Amino acid sequence: MTEHVLVERSDKLLILTLNRPDKKNALTRAMYQTLATEIAAADTDPTVRCILLLANGDMFTAGNDLSDFAALGQAGAAPAPTDANPFLVALARARTPIVAAVNGRAVGIGVTMLLHCDMVLVSEDALLTAPFVNLALVPEAASSLLMPLRIGHVRAFEMFVLGEPINAEKAVNWGLANRAVAAAELRAAAVATATAIATRAPAAVVCTKSLMREEAVLLARMTQESVHFVRQLKSAEFKEAFTAFSERRAPDFSKFE
Ligand code: COA
Repeated sequence: MTEHVLVERSDKLLILTLNRPDKKNALTRAMYQTLATEIAAADTDPTVRCILLLANGDMFTAGNDLSDFAALGQAGAAPAPTDANPFLVALARARTPIVAAVNGRAVGIGVTMLLHCDMVLVSEDALLTAPFVNLALVPEAASSLLMPLRIGHVRAFEMFVLGEPINAEKAVNWGLANRAVAAAELRAAAVATATAIATRAPAAVVCTKSLMREEAVLLARMTQESVHFVRQLKSAEFKEAFTAFSERRAPDFSKFE
């Protein structure tokens, strides 16, 4: 458990709130583990009919903690490609429906996790960015498969490779979110959405979700992505990208072949 993820149960909902606002809810390994444990536990808890993902502070999440990434990239420390992020595995396996409420920015895994959520609400000021290539990394969370399927190849390529943010209106038009709501109303709207799901016939809901998803395909793609992700974490390209972030400057990839 970590204080950076708040866990509440309320009226058939499991509410998981990212709570590391001073670091823009950047996700640490401890946070992933708590999220994974809670999502997996919900699947065997009949009192939970829907999971709600929220975030405290002025943004949903700045993505993976970059210091964690840098530590993983050290020689000898990098995990085997098969040591998948437990949160991603839990998302791929989840049977309980998941609703996400994206307030403000979502970066990297903050966007790719949405591809595993069943309904997504965004605040009107939301900005979604998947800057994997800007960090010299590659997409994860099976997003190399799911993102082009969801929004089309050219839009997915632009998001991954140019790393430009998309706003709430585009997120809705492209099918990444159900709807945009005023920031002040986001939490209430998300609770109402999750509560509506929780009133439906539970076995039918779970079965519908599982018919819509191919768990084995998602897990296989995550493993495949990890091979490339781990290689890139150890690369000089990533070192330059991380150093640039720490020094608050743009990375210079001109010297790489
Ligand atoms: N990992 C670790 N720390 C992070 C972080 C991340 N992904 N994102 C932000 N932080 C930290 C900053 O280092 C800073 O810490 P400090 O106060 O100790 O210096 C704090 O959170 C506030 O961040 P800051 O950059 O000042 O906020 P901002 O509002 O100006 O910008 C972002 C917000 C999200 C645009 C910017 O922080 C950013 O680009 N972060 C990196 C996002 C990223 O590349 N994620 C990985 C994707 S795969």
